Amino acid sequence: MARPAQIAGRPAGKLGDALHGTWFGHPIHPMLVTIPIGTWTFALALDLLAVLGLRPRGAARAAEIALKAGAAGAVAAAATGMADWQHVNGRDRRVGLVHAIVNSTALALNLTSIVLRGRGRRNEGRLASAAGWACMFLGGYLGGHMVYRRRIGSDHADRSPEPRDFTPVLPLAELEEDRPRRVEVWDEHARQAIGIVLVRHRGRVRAMGARCSHLGGPLDQGWVLNGELVCPWHGSRYDLATGWPSSGPSTCPQPRYEVRVTGGMIEIRREQERGDDAVTAARLDAKPARQAAAGSGAPQGRKADEVLVEHHQLLRRLFETIRAMPAEDPQRRDLMRTLASELEIHEQIEDHIFYPAVQPVSEDVPVAHSEHRQLSDLLAMTLKLNTASPEFEAHLRALHAAVDHHAGSEERSMFLHAQRLGDARLRELGQALETMLEEQRTSRFQSAFRDLKIRLLEGL
Ligand code: FES
Ligand SMILES: [Fe+2]
Ligand SMILES: [Fe+2]
Repeated sequence: MARPAQIAGRPAGKLGDALHGTWFGHPIHPMLVTIPIGTWTFALALDLLAVLGLRPRGAARAAEIALKAGAAGAVAAAATGMADWQHVNGRDRRVGLVHAIVNSTALALNLTSIVLRGRGRRNEGRLASAAGWACMFLGGYLGGHMVYRRRIGSDHADRSPEPRDFTPVLPLAELEEDRPRRVEVWDEHARQAIGIVLVRHRGRVRAMGARCSHLGGPLDQGWVLNGELVCPWHGSRYDLATGWPSSGPSTCPQPRYEVRVTGGMIEIRREQERGDDAVTAARLDAKPARQAAAGSGAPQGRKADEVLVEHHQLLRRLFETIRAMPAEDPQRRDLMRTLASELEIHEQIEDHIFYPAVQPVSEDVPVAHSEHRQLSDLLAMTLKLNTASPEFEAHLRALHAAVDHHAGSEERSMFLHAQRLGDARLRELGQALETMLEEQRTSRFQSAFRDLKIRLLEGL
């Protein structure tokens, strides 16, 4: 595939980029494959109806049109797939080859089916396209394997939000014109160093992520050509100013960094990506106005984190009590219900009051939501078990560990971030939490509803 493209020169390069989807900023192949999948499945459904003796008017004709449209889509999908495939190697190339063979067989069978139907050999035609559909199904499996398991086509760049503030990385004097140079910053959250490539071009310093988004190639070992940074692995070219690929196989822009030079030192700052929840100094600057407004009439009660820590302690004590009880003690079930309901209340007040409030100042919130889900899944499993069984014991231990981990990470990390909200706001939130806590515990309706849920989980 490479040789004819090299002979053709520029036009072939342009065609290649069009097929990868570099112009679009997204791979084209996964969108095109939906055409044969949809149309051929539709044709299969119509054929099945016909076999069952149901023949909606125009069904045979519709099936034929669907098969043809699917074939056209399959050819386009194959072209894009082939363009992407030439840049993978080893095991991925082999899997890709089988994926291509299986899907080509699907196409051939469907074309045969079109011909057979045209000659009036309906049943054979249906058989051929049904076999084609089965091949496509297998091809889809392999395609999914390549993307989800082998990560072909997914973004391989490091998208760390670090550094959030300007950080010195290299003396300007050490950066030569057009000689890419790697520097690293530490991401405490991911506990890894993030590579960034610096390039000085026509006197200006530019920076982008050093790991190529295509398949992770080291851009710092690439070279500058016509003012673009070229990846040494498959030759994607990135615009130094924007980080966007100007030619493929990459379809995805590199992480970008702002650059400034202070006292002869190059300093960089990550240009945060739109839609991300990264907490930056600029984001925190927006806070004080609100705090001032809360000023004089600020409530005097406890701060939100203090209320929650106290509730964590209550949960921990409940665990310890249940675990210390003899297995046969009938009170175990009752205490388990109390634990279940306190846990539920805890999650409720956090989900509704605390997490939304700290979300702008802490990046822990999405994971905390996932952990709440974990806790409630684990609790549901535990409630179903006989409290005297060893299985219950094991589940209770796991639930205890899960709650301990979750509460611990809130205390160690999220509650510290929450301090950025300021004292007044935290007290205001603390009051809201205590009110809701009280309401949840005392309201007859709420507790009846919770009891019902717990009974349902126990299996009535
Ligand atoms: S890793 Fe493939 S172009 Fe960079
Ligand atoms: Fe929580
Ligand atoms: Fe909590």
